[in-house]
Amino acid sequence: MAELIWDGKYDEHHNKRAPVRIELPFQTVETVNESVQERQRTLELSSSGNDPEWRNRLIWGDKKYVLPSLLPEFAGKVDLIYIDPPFDTGADFSFIATIPSEPSGDEDDIETFLKEPSMIEQKAYRDTWNAGLNSYLQWFNDSAVQLRELLSETGSFYVHLDWHVVHYAKAVLDEVFGAQNFINEIVWRRKGGSALGTMRRLSTATDSLLLYGKTEAYRWKVRYEMPSTDYIEQNFSKVDSSGRKFQATVMRSPSPRPNLMYDYKGYKMPPNGWSVPRKTMEELDRKGMLYFPEDKSKQIYKKIYLDEYVGQPVNSLWDDIATLKGKNVEIVDYPTQKPEALLARILNISSNEADLILDCFCGSGTTAVAAEKLNRRWIACDLGRFAIHTTRKRLLGIPGVKPFVVQNLGKYERQQWQVAEFTPSPSTVILSEAKDPMPAGTQQRPGKEFSARFSDRGENAPQRRSSPQAGKGSFDSRTRFASESGSSAQDDRLKEQLQRETAYRKFILELYHATPVSGHVWLHGVKGGRMVHVAAVDAPVTRADVNAIAAEVWKASGKGPNSPQKPAVDVLGWEFALDMNETAKQVAAEARVDAAFKKIPREVLEKKAVEQGDVYFFELGALSVDSKIKKRELMLTLSDFVIPSDDVPAEVRTAIKHWSQMVDYWAVDWDFKEDTFHNQWQSYRTRKSPKLELAVKHEYLDPGK
Ligand SMILES: C[S@@+](CC[C@H](N)C(=O)[O-])C[C@H]1O[C@@H](n2cnc3c(N)ncnc32)[C@H](O)[C@@H]1O
Repeated sequence: MAELIWDGKYDEHHNKRAPVRIELPFQTVETVNESVQERQRTLELSSSGNDPEWRNRLIWGDKKYVLPSLLPEFAGKVDLIYIDPPFDTGADFSFIATIPSEPSGDEDDIETFLKEPSMIEQKAYRDTWNAGLNSYLQWFNDSAVQLRELLSETGSFYVHLDWHVVHYAKAVLDEVFGAQNFINEIVWRRKGGSALGTMRRLSTATDSLLLYGKTEAYRWKVRYEMPSTDYIEQNFSKVDSSGRKFQATVMRSPSPRPNLMYDYKGYKMPPNGWSVPRKTMEELDRKGMLYFPEDKSKQIYKKIYLDEYVGQPVNSLWDDIATLKGKNVEIVDYPTQKPEALLARILNISSNEADLILDCFCGSGTTAVAAEKLNRRWIACDLGRFAIHTTRKRLLGIPGVKPFVVQNLGKYERQQWQVAEFTPSPSTVILSEAKDPMPAGTQQRPGKEFSARFSDRGENAPQRRSSPQAGKGSFDSRTRFASESGSSAQDDRLKEQLQRETAYRKFILELYHATPVSGHVWLHGVKGGRMVHVAAVDAPVTRADVNAIAAEVWKASGKGPNSPQKPAVDVLGWEFALDMNETAKQVAAEARVDAAFKKIPREVLEKKAVEQGDVYFFELGALSVDSKIKKRELMLTLSDFVIPSDDVPAEVRTAIKHWSQMVDYWAVDWDFKEDTFHNQWQSYRTRKSPKLELAVKHEYLDPGK
């Protein structure tokens, strides 16, 4: 067989490079549309050791981590995979965003701005294209290998591409799936293809979908589609005595066979005989399904009644599914959104109800939406925050949508990153450093040291590839150390963990342009006269943390050159307890500490994003909600939403007249218990109804505690 070779396909030992395979546990950050009863049932099932009921899954993350993390649970279990991977330019990641009108304004009075790709999205784009087609092919090959592993023996794989890479992709997929498992190239005629006068080539009017089975036992159902009205008018022109319209179709056999060679009711057989044996002919005759022309020198035809006609079997040219244009209600302003009809056709051909469907580049969520409507189970993933947000809104717009969960690899991905990036080499394990991370005067600006450190460790260096721990959740140092025997081994692990955490904090402080300080438990740096706390990678900042931080700020302020003159602190964290702004206000009032909460951006996990320059730590938006309780009824009203204005692009800032224009979606968990957020009610804007409800009432069945 011919083989496609690209730079980087083989390593220096001539072995094919395998995809990075880090299996991380998923973290459920939200359940959507799950009733209290359903949640109770899920809890009961899992506490009695039974499998909880299936929940469809919307996963925010890079397929590079998501696919290997799905393997332990889903290898060989996915029935249909459709992917529409990014190809060509980075257009996948920028889009026109809409600023809705202010509450008292005219609904059509909207403004738009170009949303640029985030650092993470730029990084994904670079990952895929940094070495041009070579890196794209390696990236595509890695995806195909892992997706094939996820596919069941009867599963099908559809990849949606265009002329840029489809021919290379075919060669890659023939190698991964086996050329014998290639089923079809489907050509989707997606637009008119009018030739542009200035171009010296034909304009492109089609996309290609390549279809593979995992084995030859792939699921298959012939689909029929109704042809155009013109076709129907031309072909169903005959009318029988009862007024039914029918088409007369020929009954000639393509090749002679003895049982087809007979004359019937005075009509001579065609040269190769009829298409059916005599018995079938008689049966059709009895049912009135034959059309006998008056002239007996002509042939007999079979009638196909228009009122029983199911259409023509679908072939590989799909020219009857229009692209989304103009005022089409499906449009959600996601630039690469595909029509639901396209996915519905794919699901109808290659899957059954309850089958499991996967799309790891879900974009606006078309696959999940089609799967939900056709009663399939689904897993949809995308690395874009906007993609996840759009998909969730689209799903919520489906009447009776089944409960689903929103997941990410959040803290596990960060733990893995911390271990991979900050584990000291054996020769540098020095416990004393943990106390004094960076003596004053030796600090560097961000970029220099870390870009050197990152480039020392090539992206594919073996130590960064392997998962440090196989067991789920076993990164937690407390659990791990407690279960170890032998105190010296324990000490070593503890030393290593402390050094890792110190190096991690030092790194974050540098990115934040803060100066590390020592001698405190909760305070790690100082910047512009404010203390700085860097939270752990794997736990949200809680109210108790903030109280402890505030107490230490008081102790530290005004003592020594690296201490703030006033009690003020910036708390840098990955995740925050939900009521953090309220907490900040309380802390400020009670302990008289000025506390600001800033998110450590996910970009810091990506070495190129860090190398590229300033990483921005956004302050948490502050949402004010008024609550009124009347007996068992609770009424919530949004009353304000503040985002520090420096964090908002200038063109957006000038377009915003009322705080509510900044809110696209809000949700309430009426029974929040400091764990997963159970989204029980939500209001959000859509193209069709761009208004947001700003108040909601809820009646509790039981009195509160
Ligand atoms: C062509 S769009 C898919 C559009 C989708 N079929 C629809 O109907 O809306 C490709 C998607 O892949 C996502 N993507 C790109 N690289 C990714 C990666 N490494 N992991 C996960 N998603 C990725 C992009 O965010 C984008 O939403």
